[in-house]
Amino acid sequence: MKAAVIYYSQTGFTKRYAQWIAEAAGADCFGLKDAKKQDFGEYDAIIFGSWACAGGIQKLSWVKTNLEKWPEKTWIVFCTGGSPAESPEIEPFFRNNFSEAEREKVHVFYCPGGFCYEKMPAGAKLMMKAFRKMVEGKKDKTAADVEMLNMISHSYDISDRNYIAPIVGLLCDRADG
Ligand SMILES: Cc1cc2nc3c(=O)[nH]c(=O)nc-3n(C[C@H](O)[C@H](O)[C@H](O)COP(=O)(O)O)c2cc1C
Repeated sequence: MKAAVIYYSQTGFTKRYAQWIAEAAGADCFGLKDAKKQDFGEYDAIIFGSWACAGGIQKLSWVKTNLEKWPEKTWIVFCTGGSPAESPEIEPFFRNNFSEAEREKVHVFYCPGGFCYEKMPAGAKLMMKAFRKMVEGKKDKTAADVEMLNMISHSYDISDRNYIAPIVGLLCDRADG
């Protein structure tokens, strides 16, 4: 089966996962900018990776447009974020980003990334500063709020190659079947 991994990454976590997946699955790998010039008609599977931003998946519109064009392909979306893999917010996050009909066609996976303030553009840094101030200013901060504030007060990396296993497993199943 011919597979393409397409990624959109700002600070490198999503790119790293995309490269791990492409390497493990023997897939071609493209940044989204290059992918826009590419015809994916010959591919059986498309794996799209991007990052979580304020509850949304960046550039997800690329998937939604192309899903309509190629509904018969195997579609996988993985999203990286600062939240740990076991966060209860992951499932509602995916539910908010896809309709039920889209979820029937798209396999979704969450891959923990982290935060890298050193590589973050100024606009994103400002957004994070405003977000931190907003949570800090909350009168009744929950334990989860305090834990999150501690986490995002500095750069961290919780990415791990092991998180690609279910994605690669799904691709192998499709190739066998
Ligand atoms: C402005 C901004 C908003 C973010 N919002 C979320 C979010 O809602 N949920 C989450 O888990 N991570 C969030 N993050 C963290 C990023 O998704 C995380 O750093 C991601 O792995 C970055 O991927 P990249 O390195 O490929 O750009 C946010 C980061 C920034 C800069």
